[in-house]
Amino acid sequence: MKSSLRCFALLSLLWLPMAQRISAETAKPMEKKAFGTTSDGKAADLYVLTNKNGMEVSITNYGGIVTSIKVPDRSGKMADVVLGYDALDGYVADKVYFGALVGRYCNRIGHAEFSIDGTKYTLAKNNGDNTLHGGIKGFNKALWDAKDVSKRDEPALELTYLSKDGEEGFPGNLKVTVVFTLTGKNELKIDYSATTDKKTVVNLTNHSYFNLAGQGSGDILKTVLRIEADKITPVDSGLIPTGDLKSVQGTPFDFRKPTAIGERINADDEQLKLGKGYDHNFVLIKNKPNGLTLAARAEEPTSGRVLEVWTTEPGTQLYTGNFLDGSIHGKGGVAYTQRSAFCLETQHFPDSPNHPKFPSTLLAPGQRYHTTTIYKFSSK
Ligand code: BGC
Repeated sequence: MKSSLRCFALLSLLWLPMAQRISAETAKPMEKKAFGTTSDGKAADLYVLTNKNGMEVSITNYGGIVTSIKVPDRSGKMADVVLGYDALDGYVADKVYFGALVGRYCNRIGHAEFSIDGTKYTLAKNNGDNTLHGGIKGFNKALWDAKDVSKRDEPALELTYLSKDGEEGFPGNLKVTVVFTLTGKNELKIDYSATTDKKTVVNLTNHSYFNLAGQGSGDILKTVLRIEADKITPVDSGLIPTGDLKSVQGTPFDFRKPTAIGERINADDEQLKLGKGYDHNFVLIKNKPNGLTLAARAEEPTSGRVLEVWTTEPGTQLYTGNFLDGSIHGKGGVAYTQRSAFCLETQHFPDSPNHPKFPSTLLAPGQRYHTTTIYKFSSK
């Protein structure tokens, strides 16, 4: 009796690591493919992450760009739900930040300048009088070092980049690490971290343009959106925050109850007119600052695809592709027309370096910047 018990215990010990090995084999190993050469002769790669459910995310180390996200609809049919291009040259020429890793400071910095401890820093003006998404050559145009950091059945890609002191006018050598993990729960988890050797400002985001019916399949006006925000940071004509926080109550910006994006997008509202639609930062309701909370949930009624955005960030920019005008031909040659995608760019508020009352984007030597955003897909 005793010996059969011992035999059973031994067999279970052998079985346990075997079971772990089997589950580890359910996610495909990360695939690495050549993705072309930049104009200065540097080779870029494309990394394909596939989870055990068959969800597939492709990321290039050129600009840390998420080039495709393939997820099932309610009947299991897969579609690529982000706008982009078929090849590297599209991303090299791109000016609208499809799928990009945006930095050193995403969104706008007013008048292209800010001060730290009385020292004024002047940046490139690439958006009227302002700096947008890091300047002329933002992080989305850099070639990042890539490393496969997959664990068990979760494929993961680590990208690192050293943004040198003075790059685009920003102070300090900034060491940036971004880890993209595709979980077994159909989540694309993005962990951003950075350290500096001189006081600087940092605000990193991902600029995916989502169309949950599938990229290139028309507008997103029927997509039903909920945003966990009771205020926005209203903007001036240059889309720079005025510094006020405006309640969404009774305005087209109230997405606390799920509402179709198109329902009020053409309303007679000063803020909507300034953005040519939604192009605004929402102040997220946070019960604990820096805690990972639900920021937004989007549901596409035809396909049933659902996207939830979770973040540690205090804000998210809702941009409804207002400046797309059909002149960009993306994947498969499709013309991307106005409002054919929406972005939910999790972030600190735009122009924070010039608004001391906004949550701070300052990073000092010895501190570590760390934020997490999760794009979670499902269907209904
Ligand atoms: C900005 C838009 C801009 C778009 C593409 C968004 O984050 O808020 O104004 O057109 O990015 O650059």
